[in-house]
Amino acid sequence: MGRILAFANQKGGVGKSTSAINIAAGAALTGKKVLLVDCDPQGNTTSGVGINKKHITASTYDILISRSDAQTAVAETKFDNLSIIPANISLAGAEFELVDSESREARLKKALAAIKDDYDLTVIDCPPSLGLITVNALVAADGIIVPMLCEYFSLEGLTQLLMTVKEVKRRYNPELELTGILITMYNGRLNLSQEVAAELKRYYAGKLLATTIPRSVKISEAPGFGEPIQYYEKNGKGAEAYNAAAKEIMKRIGL
Ligand SMILES: Nc1ncnc2c1ncn2[C@@H]1O[C@H](COP(=O)(O)OP(=O)(O)O)[C@@H](O)[C@H]1O
Ligand SMILES: [Mg+2]
Repeated sequence: MGRILAFANQKGGVGKSTSAINIAAGAALTGKKVLLVDCDPQGNTTSGVGINKKHITASTYDILISRSDAQTAVAETKFDNLSIIPANISLAGAEFELVDSESREARLKKALAAIKDDYDLTVIDCPPSLGLITVNALVAADGIIVPMLCEYFSLEGLTQLLMTVKEVKRRYNPELELTGILITMYNGRLNLSQEVAAELKRYYAGKLLATTIPRSVKISEAPGFGEPIQYYEKNGKGAEAYNAAAKEIMKRIGL
C-alpha cells in the first residue's frame, strides 16, 4: 500500500519544498519508488528536480479540475525512482475555481487514488497557506511532515497548523497523523534556535524528528541546478542530514 505524506506549513520560506525534494530523493535512493506532487503554484519543487515549468503538459492543476488523470500528469525526472506531478502558476487559479465544485476538499485524494499504489511513497509539497489546496493535500495524505525554523513565531504557527489538521481529521480524514516535525536551516550556535528546539522537544517529544537539517549554502544552491542535494553534493552534510531524515520518516510510516 502506497503511503502519502504532505509537507505542510502555512509559513513560506521554512523549507517545505527543499525538504519535499530531498526527502523524496533520499527515499528514492534507498530503492523505494517515489512520487512528488507539487501543490504550490510557484512550482519550486518542479524546477528543483530539473523539470522546466514551461514545458509542462499536464500538472497538479489539471488533475484537481479533472482535466487530466493523475497517470497522464506524471513526469519522470532524471533521477532513479523519482517521478513528479509538476505544478506551475496555473495552479493559482484552482483555489477559486474549486470553491463551488463537488467534494472540493477530496479532489486530490480521488485523483491520486488511481496511482498511489504504484509508488511506495508519495510526497506532496504544499503551498504556504491553509487554503483549499493545502486542505486537499491533508485530505489525501496519511501523514504530515511539518518543516519548520527554530524561530519564536514558528511555535505559534505550529499551533495554528495543528488546529487545521485536527479539523481536517474530524471532517474528512480520521486516519491523518502528524508523522514528524522537521527542523530546517538549523544553526546550533544561536541561542534562540537552541531554545526553540528545546521547546519543541518538550511539547512535541514523540513528533520531533531526531535529525535536524543544518543551514547550508549547498542546500540552497541545489534547486538552481535542478538537483536534489544528494546529487548536487553527494557526500556533504546536507545530503547526510536529508538521507538520515528520510530514513527516520520511512521508519515512522513503516516503509
Ligand atoms: N538547510 C538550508 N540551508 C540554507 N538554505 C535553505 C535550507 N533549506 C532551504 N533553504 C532555502 O530557504 C529558502 C526557502 O526554502 P523553501 O524550501 O523554498 O521553503 P518553502 O517551500 O517552505 O517556502 C529557499 O531559498 C531555500 O533554498
Ligand atoms: Mg515551497
